[in-house]
Amino acid sequence: MRLTIRDIQQMKEQRERIPMLTAYDYTSAKILDRAGVPLLLVGDSLGQTMLGYGSTLPVTMDEMIHHTKAVVRGTERALVVGDMPFMSYQVSQEEAVRNAGRFLQEAGAQVVKLEGGVTVARTVKRIVECGIPVMGHIGLTPQSVHQLGGFRVQGRTPQAAVRLLQDAQALEEAGAFAVVLELVPAPLAKLITERCSVPTIGIGAGPSCDGQVLVFHDFLGIYPDFVPKHTKLYAHLAETITQAVGAYMKEVQEGSFPAAEHSFSMDPAILSELTQTV
Ligand code: KIV
Repeated sequence: MRLTIRDIQQMKEQRERIPMLTAYDYTSAKILDRAGVPLLLVGDSLGQTMLGYGSTLPVTMDEMIHHTKAVVRGTERALVVGDMPFMSYQVSQEEAVRNAGRFLQEAGAQVVKLEGGVTVARTVKRIVECGIPVMGHIGLTPQSVHQLGGFRVQGRTPQAAVRLLQDAQALEEAGAFAVVLELVPAPLAKLITERCSVPTIGIGAGPSCDGQVLVFHDFLGIYPDFVPKHTKLYAHLAETITQAVGAYMKEVQEGSFPAAEHSFSMDPAILSELTQTV
């Protein structure tokens, strides 16, 4: 049976750490779901990992819905979070509600995530009032990369730290069921986690958050050209894939693949008749 936001909140109450990973397609979602990952985020990071864009900014609602549908089809137990892309919730509350609704109605997700704190709190409240669970996201918010002046750690000055505490509080008051903290100094993330009654999920925010999230391609070493400092490589899949491709090409070129066990036989009588008649 699928987990609920209540199950995730109970994990915080019971001091059970919450692992979350991103997923973007049916097959990998199935693997992660079977491995028992309780929370799967269809992140707008799919702009980079799946679609080859330079940032998350070009990602559209239709692209997010397409990938979220696939992840939902691949899962039975995980709670699936659909990430609201740039400009899908900023223009008006009406548009935000309509787009949040699409994630549940069309894609089958159970939760939506959106970036921002105090500035989006009213929008979060409105979406939650419509019965749509929301996960907040503060700290480094990649959709505001140009405003923030790059992908940098947030909350290092006293003023910025206070703002982040206020952002977390505003999201909690607006009804967000959990909050992602991205690139936040570890001691500040600890303070926010202690002050928040809802779970915090960290990425580059130290060990004291209630949960952690990593990007699928990062932690598996699928995209080794750039490994963020906050990522730990749990596998080296780009190397594994490259070795497998090399072995396959070699065997095709030398004629050892396919072997007899990969081929299909045919009744010799039929073949004999065929060669005589055609
Ligand atoms: O899009 C994404 O993958 C995210 C995570 C980094 C939290 O927002």
